[in-house]
Amino acid sequence: MKIKTICCIGAGYVGGPTMAVIAQKCPHIKVTVVDVNASRIAAWNDNDLNNLPVFEPGLDSIVKEARGRNLFFSTNIDQAIEEADMIFISVNTPTKTYGKGKGMAADLKYIELCARQIAKVAKQDKIVVEKSTLPVRTASAIKNILDNTGNGVQFQILSNPEFLAEGTAVQDLLNPDRVLIGGDTTKEGQAAIQTLVDIYANWVPKERILTTNVWSSELSKLTANAFLAQRVSSINAMSEICEKSGADIDEVARAIGMDSRIGPKFLKASVGFGGSCFQKDILNLVYIAKTYGLNEVADYWEQVILMNDHQKNRFSDNIVSTLYNTVSGKKIAFLGWAFKKDTNDTRESPAIKVAYNLLNEQANIAVYDPKVVAERMYADLDYLNTRTEAVNRSLLTVDTDPYLVTKDAHAIAVLTEWDEFKYYDWQRIYDSMHKPAFIFDGRGILDKKALEKIGFVCYTIGKGS
Ligand code: NAD
Ligand code: UGA
Repeated sequence: MKIKTICCIGAGYVGGPTMAVIAQKCPHIKVTVVDVNASRIAAWNDNDLNNLPVFEPGLDSIVKEARGRNLFFSTNIDQAIEEADMIFISVNTPTKTYGKGKGMAADLKYIELCARQIAKVAKQDKIVVEKSTLPVRTASAIKNILDNTGNGVQFQILSNPEFLAEGTAVQDLLNPDRVLIGGDTTKEGQAAIQTLVDIYANWVPKERILTTNVWSSELSKLTANAFLAQRVSSINAMSEICEKSGADIDEVARAIGMDSRIGPKFLKASVGFGGSCFQKDILNLVYIAKTYGLNEVADYWEQVILMNDHQKNRFSDNIVSTLYNTVSGKKIAFLGWAFKKDTNDTRESPAIKVAYNLLNEQANIAVYDPKVVAERMYADLDYLNTRTEAVNRSLLTVDTDPYLVTKDAHAIAVLTEWDEFKYYDWQRIYDSMHKPAFIFDGRGILDKKALEKIGFVCYTIGKGS
């Protein structure tokens, strides 16, 4: 079977960029991305490409090329499902906030809604592709819904998890380390796998397209994120030992990274990992392990999260203790709010937790982030539900000029590794601050020696003084 029409349910950080790249590379396939969120769809359709809902380097030109040709964004979900030969489900799968598994299990209600809608609308055979990150064995639940409430239509379920990282989504999609496709071992299942292989083969070398059974594919996604997050927690654990012992975390990372068995990537110590997925996916893994009665396995992975929480808390504790045990009424300037550079995404950003801790100490916070708008930061704080909206807006201010944000500050905290921070006029910033002028570099990106020469008192994660 050759696919002519694709529908993707969910126009978020994954659905949007992934489908834009498929559409660009497969001009013979009509790709329609649908979402219940009308304003998100409107933003994807905005003539001004600066208003796309997802900021990713290089995404605007791909959308420009394909949109209106064979890439469409729409709120008409039923029509797109009906037309499609293949349907990707790319909706959010957040941590459950209620009921059994609260705070741990993945909330699959949006997935189930999609399955039910597909079952209701579909009149011809379809291939349904899990793009969202899901607990192992979700495909059987989807299949069950489709087979029991459908119109006698045949469905094949594939698992095709996405490994892109935000900030590099376009590069990751154009040149992936691998594409993973899991499907049924039956003849029909293998044929469905092949149709998806054929799509990716338009631009991905065949040897990088890996096919497995469905459960391996689903579990590999959780495993990959768990391993990546574990690396960050491991290097962060070492960063604390470095600070006590006088070792330098960057030197340690380089030394171990040259061992080809360890490798050099993902060894940058930080104020903690953020992002919508690492924490949620590990919690999901912990939950799955517990459901199987594998308590030691669950405890092992949970430690990655506990270490990450510790790293964020010790960063803010250090700010308070260094500033003579009180930040009450003091201005702390935040450089960065996004969970990493080159994205406007703030989900689970360590900046939120550090801000929360400092606000509890009655600090005044001023934030500059090159891509995150003020409304997003306030929404992040309001979501914590610990202060009124008015109080959040009075205690935390936002400006688009980093020199204004740092003016009259008692301390600067670097929360995101935006490149531009390295190139500021640090003498000018020093001159405008209260003295002693403190800098807490939570990303290890600034030149500590140069800053100290100017007169800053400088703390860098993982570097003893
Ligand atoms: P997102 O929140 O940005 O986007 C999900 C979209 O789905 C939202 O716009 C929402 O309105 C829409 N949606 C929800 N239910 C719907 C329904 N029933 N019908 C139509 N639209 C619906 O989420 P995301 O970051 O794109 O993540 C999606 C999935 O991909 C998650 O499972 C996530 O774990 C996984 N993932 C994310 C990343 C990442 O970098 N963000 C990378 C790999 C995998
Ligand atoms: C991560 C994975 O890298 C992707 O492969 C995966 O598809 C995605 O999660 C997902 O499933 O959502 P992402 O969260 O976008 O991607 O970004 P990462 O580059 O992995 O960074 C995650 C967090 O770890 C960031 O806060 C980053 O600053 C931090 N990090 C990363 C470090 O502190 N040190 C490092 O060395 C690397």
